[in-house]
Amino acid sequence: TIQSVILSGGSGTRLWPASREQYPKQLLALTGTDTLLQATARRLDGFDAAVAPDTIVVSNEEYRFVIAEQLRQLGKRGRIVLEPAGRNTAPALTLAALLAVRDGADPVLLVMPADHVIPDVARFQTAIAEGAGLAANGAFVTFGIVPDRAETGYGYIRTGDSVAGAASARAIDAFVEKPDAATAAKYVAAGDYLWNSGIFMMKASRWLAAIERFNPEMAAACRRAMDSATDDADFVRADKAAFLTSPSDSIDYAVMEKLPSAPELGRGVVVPMAAGWSDVGAWDALWQVCEKDAAGNVGRGDVMFESSEDTMVMAESRLVAAIGLKDMVVVETPDAVMVAHKRNTQDVKKIVARLKAEG
Ligand code: GDD
Ligand code: MG
Repeated sequence: TIQSVILSGGSGTRLWPASREQYPKQLLALTGTDTLLQATARRLDGFDAAVAPDTIVVSNEEYRFVIAEQLRQLGKRGRIVLEPAGRNTAPALTLAALLAVRDGADPVLLVMPADHVIPDVARFQTAIAEGAGLAANGAFVTFGIVPDRAETGYGYIRTGDSVAGAASARAIDAFVEKPDAATAAKYVAAGDYLWNSGIFMMKASRWLAAIERFNPEMAAACRRAMDSATDDADFVRADKAAFLTSPSDSIDYAVMEKLPSAPELGRGVVVPMAAGWSDVGAWDALWQVCEKDAAGNVGRGDVMFESSEDTMVMAESRLVAAIGLKDMVVVETPDAVMVAHKRNTQDVKKIVARLKAEG
């Protein structure tokens, strides 16, 4: 069986003022009526293979009620694992893997970030079907995106030989997480690199063996945190004292970069995925993936456009009229309004940093 695991811990500050620490982007309906978390939870609907009915969601304490409510709205059941503090994605996945093997099972985990947009669900499912077969045979599967710029916030995968019997998978010859700008440019020019989408598949036991090998301290801390976890109807609370002793690291740095050096743990493979994937890192990326009107505008809430093009306006509490705007993003909330040119939307994080510094 496939056990889906949704990682829902981040705070998404570049989508300020809609995304806040108290209400991060995955819990917002940014592209339609579903929130990004809900769209993630639905992404396997209709998939014709055995999928465990309970999604595992790993999240910080603070978001637990909103997550439970958003799953309930979909009529979905979830086991929500709560981290007393964020330790990045490797410990989060380790908690989920330990929960998945609790009753002696060893499912293939499908690890999905809660804050991505994937418009072409059919192609996503085709890639997952290919990945499931490879993971069941012991591979660590990533899903690769053809890069279109030298983005430094992503992992880069150098693709190797095609995999015997697989439709499109390639061996991972090298995995480089977040290279510097010059290196990223070199990789994009080379043509044999894919971006890591941040979606992974592997057997739970394989992940646990890898983390045991590469970071025994993390493995031990997560084991103790789950051995002393408290379960109630909706939530599995990892033991605080134990979890806080875990080192912090990401799936990419902790395991994926190191995997080519330890082939006995399982081989790394990448399945290319052309499904319109975006991690909606900033407002311009969100505009990209949203459905637009004939003039290229996207409006959410009470919005009027006049003589405007390629502009996005989100109105939460008031009517917003956009007149003569081109390539702009306007986000209105009750306590803050942001107006930005699309080419500057990365700089939103500078404003967030200043707000934090100024208290
Ligand atoms: N539960 C939990 N706990 N979730 C977390 C935590 C945590 O401590 N930290 C991050 N997450 C969630 C985030 O909410 C997000 O959905 C996902 O895990 C990935 O974390 P990010 O922090 O967004 O990672 P990234 O964007 O820097 O890099 C990853 O994604 C890129 C693609 O978007 C890497 O996998 C890169 O290689 C990849 O290219
Ligand atoms: Mg991310």
